Amino acid sequence: MTPINLTILGATGTIGVNTLDVVARHPERFSIVALTGATQLDKLAEQCRQFRPRYAVVMDAERAATLKTLLAGLDIEVRWGVEALEEVSALPEVDSVMAAIVGAAGLRPAMAAARAGKRILLANKETLVMAGHFFMEAVKAGGASLLPIDSEHNAVFQSMPAGYDGNLAGHGVRRILLTASGGPFRSRAVETLAAVTPEEAVAHPTWVMGKKISVDSATMMNKGLEVIEARWLFNARPEQIEVVIHPQSIIHSMVEYLDGSVLAQLYTPDMRTPIAHSLAYPERVAAGVPWLDLAKIGTLTFEAPDFQRFPCLKLAYQALATGGAAPAILNAANEEAVAAFLDHRIPYLAISETLSTVLARLHDRPAGNLEELEAVDAEARNIAQALIAAL
Ligand SMILES: NC(=O)c1ccc[n+]([C@@H]2O[C@H](COP(=O)([O-])OP(=O)(O)OC[C@H]3O[C@@H](n4cnc5c(N)ncnc54)[C@H](OP(=O)(O)O)[C@@H]3O)[C@@H](O)[C@H]2O)c1
Repeated sequence: MTPINLTILGATGTIGVNTLDVVARHPERFSIVALTGATQLDKLAEQCRQFRPRYAVVMDAERAATLKTLLAGLDIEVRWGVEALEEVSALPEVDSVMAAIVGAAGLRPAMAAARAGKRILLANKETLVMAGHFFMEAVKAGGASLLPIDSEHNAVFQSMPAGYDGNLAGHGVRRILLTASGGPFRSRAVETLAAVTPEEAVAHPTWVMGKKISVDSATMMNKGLEVIEARWLFNARPEQIEVVIHPQSIIHSMVEYLDGSVLAQLYTPDMRTPIAHSLAYPERVAAGVPWLDLAKIGTLTFEAPDFQRFPCLKLAYQALATGGAAPAILNAANEEAVAAFLDHRIPYLAISETLSTVLARLHDRPAGNLEELEAVDAEARNIAQALIAAL
């Protein structure tokens, strides 16, 4: 068996670690070419010792020097910066790129993988939220292929007809139903939300994830970003994408067909399932995930999302309807607001208020190319930071 050569962007994060867990179960199938991280140097060094990539990439020269010391004696080239991330995503010997950097920082390396025609295992939803149109164009032009890692989109992908080509109606699809756990505050009294702490917000009831996406799950901005992500991945209109709250996180999403059939994908909530699916696609490999015991689970429940409790979800639908730069503005302001909340600089409810103000001020900015989108991303961050500082 010829192994699949992998670059893992964001190897030290939650998705990166789960990816390496699946890879370690199948050493004959996968070979690591590059691992990247940002700040967790000891963890990256440990991963490098175990998986022996040819390249390791970190954020800056100082960290690269430290990592070099940690890896002394090993034949691993240590590099740093965005250009190095782009390069290890486009190396000729790389077959698949796991795009699992968090936030807007993941955009450029994912674009590089798209232009180089790689199979992209896309966890970094921000790439599609910020620049969906340009990214999908780059995937097409570069001859790349895209497999979604986000559990919902991976479930939709698996529930779509084989050979789905972006034409929902042509394949008899009526709607995409994205499930959402509802996060830790689904049933908390609305009047107590003002007092929510970062520690409470990151304590997700069903998933173990990085801090930023955990806060996004609490506000349901994560689901909003996923609605935008689904729009690009499946070429769906906003009204063809519906969110349904399903607190048990057993059904990971569904596709409804014109004849009334609804196809769903189920598993014990564990990101190693969509990761293993995408790593081995179209084959299936063991992921180490506990088997689903439906009799033990007993009950699956569903409810409609409450847009008053979750204003961020409504803002995401609005940004999608506005189009252009609006989703990128929303994403940038959200990254700043979530970072400030995690730092105890703003209260929980100020997250959605910040997004709403930034979106209203900038929504008509041009979005004709990637550079304009990056400029509006920077402008949105500046305004968000000013609003945060004034609070
Ligand atoms: N976790 C999940 O279950 C899940 C599910 C679906 C989708 N996703 C998506 O997957 C992506 C990763 O999520 P995660 O939960 O794995 O995040 P995470 O645990 O915070 O990990 C983020 C990774 O990105 C690296 N990184 C952070 N800032 C960077 C920068 N400026 N430049 C280069 N690398 C940087 C981090 O390096 P250091 O740790 O070394 O600093 C780490 O390796 C996100 O887009 C998220 O929305 C996650």
